Amino acid sequence: MIKHFLKISSGVFALMIAFSTHAQTNHKTTKHLPKSDEKRLSAKIDSLVSLMTLEEKVSMIKSASAFTNGGVPRLGIPEIVMSDGPHGVRHEVNRDWSRNEKVDSRATFLPAEIALASTWNKDLAYKYGTVLGTEAKHRGKDIILGPGINIVRSPLNGRNFEYMSEDPYLISVMGVGYVKGVQDQGISACVKHYLANNQETKRQEVDVLMDERALREIYLPGFKAAVQKGNAYTIMGAYNKFRGQYCTHNEYLINKVLKGEMGFKGAVISDWSAVQNTMQALKFGTDIEMGTEMRNWGNWNFNKVFMGDTAISLVKAGVVDVSYIDAKVKRILWVMHKINMFGKRTPGAINTPEHQKVALNVAEEGIVLLKNNNILPLKKDALKSIAVIGDNAVRLQAEGGGSAQVLAYYEITPLKGLRNVYAPDTQKVSFSQGYVVKKDGTADPQLIAEAVKAASEAEVAIVIGGFVHGYTNEWNDKAFDSEGADKKDIKLPFGQDELIKAVVKANPNTIVVLLGGSASDMSQWVNDVKAIAQVWYPGMEGGNALANILFGKTNPSGKLPVTFPKQLSDMPSHSIGEFPGDSTVNYKEGIFVGYRHFDTHHIEPLFPFGHGLSYTQFAFSNLHVQKQGENVLVSLSLKNTGKVDGAEVVQVYVSDEQASVERPKQELKAFEKVFLKAGESKNISLTLGKEAFQFFDDKKLDWVLEAGKFTINVGSSSKEIKLKGAVSF
Ligand code: BGC
Repeated sequence: MIKHFLKISSGVFALMIAFSTHAQTNHKTTKHLPKSDEKRLSAKIDSLVSLMTLEEKVSMIKSASAFTNGGVPRLGIPEIVMSDGPHGVRHEVNRDWSRNEKVDSRATFLPAEIALASTWNKDLAYKYGTVLGTEAKHRGKDIILGPGINIVRSPLNGRNFEYMSEDPYLISVMGVGYVKGVQDQGISACVKHYLANNQETKRQEVDVLMDERALREIYLPGFKAAVQKGNAYTIMGAYNKFRGQYCTHNEYLINKVLKGEMGFKGAVISDWSAVQNTMQALKFGTDIEMGTEMRNWGNWNFNKVFMGDTAISLVKAGVVDVSYIDAKVKRILWVMHKINMFGKRTPGAINTPEHQKVALNVAEEGIVLLKNNNILPLKKDALKSIAVIGDNAVRLQAEGGGSAQVLAYYEITPLKGLRNVYAPDTQKVSFSQGYVVKKDGTADPQLIAEAVKAASEAEVAIVIGGFVHGYTNEWNDKAFDSEGADKKDIKLPFGQDELIKAVVKANPNTIVVLLGGSASDMSQWVNDVKAIAQVWYPGMEGGNALANILFGKTNPSGKLPVTFPKQLSDMPSHSIGEFPGDSTVNYKEGIFVGYRHFDTHHIEPLFPFGHGLSYTQFAFSNLHVQKQGENVLVSLSLKNTGKVDGAEVVQVYVSDEQASVERPKQELKAFEKVFLKAGESKNISLTLGKEAFQFFDDKKLDWVLEAGKFTINVGSSSKEIKLKGAVSF
C-alpha cells in the first residue's frame, strides 16, 4: 500500500537524500548503531529540525487524524500511521473515526495477550510480534499500539485479556519477545500503558498511590525490560494519575525514570485523549498528543488540543522555550528513522499460512489444563458422542473488547473446531446454547433443561462458557472483559453455575472449558466436573486448538500466568478493599501482588501461579546451583517419563532466607519451556543474574543484594516444587 507521497522542495532535497540513504543502507542494523552512527544520525535530525517552522514542529507533536500525527510534506516528513491493537491489526477508520469500508480491514486474529503469556514460550512471543509487525506493514502502519503489559492486580480489570501476568519477570520475558518480533519487521511497538493502568473504573481520573518499592519491583520491570532489552521505540502514557500527576505527563515517571534512568530514546505517545495540561505535556515528556480532539466528537479540530495552537502561542509569547518542542520532534524523527520511514520498506504480508500457524500454536500452548480426572485426552475413535453446551461454543469474540477488536479473516469457534477435528456429523456432536448473554445476567431454565437432555444423551458433555467481550447492545459489566469497565465479580454470569451443576448431574463425564481474561469462581462445581480447561480468548484458530488439546493431538503445556483464587476476597487488592479505586487507589499491598501474597500469607489458591497439566509426566533431577562470577548457574535434568511427547515449563523461584526486610516467600526469576519426546531427557541450564536476588531498598532508593542464604526452588508451578538448592552471598 502506497502511503507516503513526498513533496520535497528543492532547498532541502540534498539533506533528505542523505537522510533517506542512511536509513536504507542501515535498515537491518539500526537497532544497535555504533555510537558514531548515532551521532551522525542525531546531527542529521538536528539539521532537519533547524529547517522547520514552529507550526511545522507543532504539527508533528499532536494528532492530525484519529491515528496519525502531522507530517511536514515540504520537508518530506510523512505522518506516522498508528494502529491498535495488541493481538491483531485493527480495522481501518477514516480520519474522523468513521469506519473505512473502502479498504480491506481484515487481519489475523491472534489469541489475546493473556493466552500468549500462558504459553511461557518466548519464541512464540517473538513469532506473535512478527505476525503483528508484518501485518501492520502490509496495512501501511508504522506503529502497532501494543503490547499491553500492565500488571494483573485484580481479576476484575476489564482489560486483563490485553495484559500478560501478575508477575513482572514473566511479563518482561514475554514482552521483550513481542517487542522484538514487531520491531524486527521495521515497525515500532508501542508498549502500554505506562504506568499502573490496572483498573478501567474511572481510568481517566483515578490517582494511583504506591510505595517506591512496589513501583520498582512490580510495576516498572516490564517497561524497563521493553526499553533496555527490547529496544522499544515508543511507549504509551496511561490515562490515570500516579502520585497526583497524570501519567501521560508525569515528571517523575517520564522525565526522571523512563527518559533519565532507563535511557529511553524513543517517543512517549499519550493514550487517546489522556493529555490534560499544556505546560505539563510540554515539559514532562509527552512527545505526541493523541486523541484530544475526541472530546469534541464530530467537531474535529486538531489544532485546539493541548499541544496545538496553545503551545504555539506560549512559545511565541516567550513563556515556553522552543527547545521543549524541538526535543519532542527530534525523538519522533529518531523513531521514524529507526523504522525506516525515510527509506524503502520491505513488503509486509497478511493472513499467510505461517500466521495462521502462529495463531494456532499460541492458542494451543496457551490453553491451560487446570484439572483432569482421567477423562482427557478424549479417544477419537472410541468416543460415540459429545454434547457441546454453552453460548461461548459458537460466539464470535474478535470484534469485542474495545480498542483491541480485530476484523478477523475467520474465527474457528469451539464448536466448529470440535466438529473439524472429531466429526463434522451433528449426530455425534450436538449443540445446545445453555445460557444467553443478556443484560440482566440471569439463567434461562428452558435452555438449562435442553442442555441437561443433550448431556444425558451423550457420552461426554463439554460446557463451553466463561466471560465474553462486550457489545454495547448487551452491555453487562458483570460479564465482560472489555475496555472502559471492570467486571464486578468473578462469578460466572448468565446462570452458568446452575447450568454446570445440572449438566454434571445428568452426565458425570462433564468437561468445563472457560473463555475469559481472568480467573472465575468455580467453587460450586470444581470438585464435581471431570476436567477444566482455561482457553482465554484463543483467536481465530481457537476452536481447532481446543479440539487438538481435548483429543490429545497436541499435548497441553500452558501454565497460569496469574493466580486463580478460591474467592475474590483472597486477592490482595480486594482483601484490603483497594480495588477499584474511586478518586484514589492506594496499592497498600505493596509488592505482595498475586502469588507473592498467597505464598507469603499462606493462602491456598484454587489453582496456583504457574500451574498447568500435561498428558505426560516429567521427572526433575540432578539440581546443581553454582556461583559463576556475578551470576548463579542453575542446572538440572528433565525427563519425559510418560508415553507421549510433551513440554514442561521449568520454573525457578528464589527465596531470600535471611532478609532484613519483608520479602515474598519466593519470586519467579527464570524459566524455560522444554519440549521432550516420550522417554527423552535433557540437561537444562538457567542463569540468574544478581538482580534475581536483590530487593529495592526504599530508604537508600537503590537495589540491594544482602549477604545470606537464598533457596532456589525449581518446579512445574509455584506450588509444585520438585527440587531445592541453595546459594549464599
Ligand atoms: C486505549 C489504548 C488504545 C487507544 C487507541 C485508548 O482508549 O486505552 O490502549 O491504543 O485508545 O485506540
